[in-house]
Amino acid sequence: MQNTASFWVDQFSREKRKLRISVTDRCNFKCSYCMPEHPEWMKKKNLVSFEALYQFCELMVQGGIESIRITGGEPLMRKGVVHFIEQLQQLKPLGLKRISMTTNGHYLKKYALALKQAGLDDLNISLDTLDAEQFHKLTKNDLEPVLSGIEQAQQVGLAVKINTVLINGQNEDQILPLVVWAKAKNISLRFIEFMPLDGDAHWQKQNVITEQDILTVLATQYQLQLQTQGSEPARRYLLDEQYEIGIISTISHAFCGSCDRIRMTAQGELYNCLFATEGLALKPQLDVLLANPNVDLKKQLQQKIQQYVWQKESGFDAIYAKKQPRKISMHMLGG
Ligand code: GTP
Ligand code: 5AD
Ligand code: SF4
Repeated sequence: MQNTASFWVDQFSREKRKLRISVTDRCNFKCSYCMPEHPEWMKKKNLVSFEALYQFCELMVQGGIESIRITGGEPLMRKGVVHFIEQLQQLKPLGLKRISMTTNGHYLKKYALALKQAGLDDLNISLDTLDAEQFHKLTKNDLEPVLSGIEQAQQVGLAVKINTVLINGQNEDQILPLVVWAKAKNISLRFIEFMPLDGDAHWQKQNVITEQDILTVLATQYQLQLQTQGSEPARRYLLDEQYEIGIISTISHAFCGSCDRIRMTAQGELYNCLFATEGLALKPQLDVLLANPNVDLKKQLQQKIQQYVWQKESGFDAIYAKKQPRKISMHMLGG
C-alpha cells in the first residue's frame, strides 16, 4: 500500500516520513562527541517495552511514516532488538518501506546474519578512523571487532554506509585514508560535521571540520562533482566520476528546510527535532494503550503526537540561536 499525505506534518508543511527510535542509551563505546564522561543510564524499568513500541510504530506508519531507523546508544546492546526488527516487517503492508539500524559495529560479527534474516534493509556503521591507536583514544574500545563486523555485514548482503564524524585535532588526517579504504571495499562513506550534541557540552565551532575543509583535502587527489540532494541529510560528491561520498554538514549547510524526521528516546520521549529542547513523554499513554487497546485512547494519542509534531521549529539555526539548555545528548537521541 502506498502512503499519500502524512498525518504527521509540522507548521512549515514538512511531512514526517522517517522515524528514528532509540532502543537504549547504553553503549560499550565512549565517543567524546556523543557520550558524557559519566553517563547516568536510563533505568531498565523506564524503557518502553518492545510490545508498546510496536504499537507506537504501527500508529506512526498508519499516519504516513515510511522508514524506521533503530538507534541507541548501541542498539545491539538491547536484548530482543533482532526480534523487534522481525516484528516490524508486519508493518510493510501498511506502508513501511524501510527498516534500518545505526550501530557502532562492535557486535556485528555476531548479529549481522540474524539482522539480515530478520529483514533489516540497511545498516549505518560509525567508523571515525582506521588507526587502531586513534580509534581507542576516540572510542575507548577496539577497532578490530568493528572492521570484522563491517566485513560480516557486507558478506551477509546487508547494504552498509559508514559514518565518520571529523573533529579538529583528532582525526582529520583520516579523510583520504578512509576514502581509499571505502572505495576499495565498494562501501558508501559519509563524513559528518561535529554537532553541538555531545554529552558534556564541550562543542566549539573551531573543532568542526567543515564541508569546505573536507573538500579542500579531497581536491588534492580527486576531481569533485556535487550531485543533486534529495531528502537525505548528506550532500553527495562524485570523485573522479567514479566513486560517491557524502558530507552531512548541519553546521555549514543546515538541511532543515526539507526535514522529514522525528525521533523517540528509549524512555518514550518524542523529539520533533534533533536539537529540540523539549520532548513529549509518551510512555504512560503507550503503556495504557497496550493494556487496553481501544479506539478512543488511540485517537487521543494520535492527536497529542500530531500537535507536538506541528509545533516543530524551523530547524537548527532557529533553535541554536536561543541558547536554551538541553536535557539530553546524542547518546539518548541516537543521532
Ligand atoms: P538515512 O538518511 O536514512 O540513511 O539515515 P541517516 O543518515 O539519517 O542516519 P544516521 O543514523 O547514519 O545519521 C547520520 C548522521 O546524520 C548522524 O550524525 C545524525 O545525527 C545526522 N542526522 C540524521 N538525521 C538528522 C537530522 O534530522 N538533522 C540533522 N541535523 N542531522 C541528522
Ligand atoms: N555530531 C555529529 N554526529 C554525531 N554522532 C554522534 N554524535 C555526534 C555529534 N555530536 C553520529 C555518530 C553516529 C550517528 C548516529 O551520529 O557517529 O554515526
Ligand atoms: Fe530536522 Fe532539526 Fe535536523 Fe534540522 S536539525 S534537519 S529540523 S532534525
